[in-house]
Amino acid sequence: MQENENKEKQSDYDGIEYNPETRNKLPFSFKLIALVLLGFGIYYTPSYLPGVSGWTQEGEFNSDMEVYKKKLAATAVDSIQYDKFFTDAAAVEEGKTLYATQPCAACHGAGGEGLIGPNLKDAEWVYGGDAKAIFKSINIGRPKGMPAYKGQISTDDMLKLTAFVHSLSVAP
Ligand code: HEC
Repeated sequence: MQENENKEKQSDYDGIEYNPETRNKLPFSFKLIALVLLGFGIYYTPSYLPGVSGWTQEGEFNSDMEVYKKKLAATAVDSIQYDKFFTDAAAVEEGKTLYATQPCAACHGAGGEGLIGPNLKDAEWVYGGDAKAIFKSINIGRPKGMPAYKGQISTDDMLKLTAFVHSLSVAP
């Protein structure tokens, strides 16, 4: 009788009642966490563990870089077909109109004879008179006061300006 009373006291401590039969069962939240972690492990091991999946940080970095490089190549100056309009008479005419409507004439003179900017009519070039060089002068600008027109004039229009500027230098 004395023993029984003791037992009762153990399962009713400070007014908190324990049912000795369920006391050792895992709480639901523990099971849930264990399951989630187990699930994560099952997913992670074949997907990312280098020895099992072949996945490496470096590999992922390189594949990201491939995507990035492709994007860059699509927008890079070097993917431009510089001579697209270079000898196209119609484009040269359009370039002439652009030259007059864009600020070019303000610095290079109405006929390209030179003002603040250098003469574009002679056959002498500071940066080169081929399609790529002229386009670059217009596209990215030149250090001694030639503004960059990238983003302000479309690529095609810059190529037409290139054709026109070139035509000035070869005109008889
Ligand atoms: C604010 C004045 C200014 C404007 C506007 C301007 N340029 Fe220039 N440009 C210059 C100067 C100054 C240089 C020389 C830069 C240098 O030597 O670094 C130059 C250089 C150039 C060159 C290189 C010439 C060479 O000998 O290699 C080309 C081509 C050219 N400009 C074309 C144009 C065209 C086309 C436009 C209009 C879209 C234009 N520029 C608008 C001032 C201007």
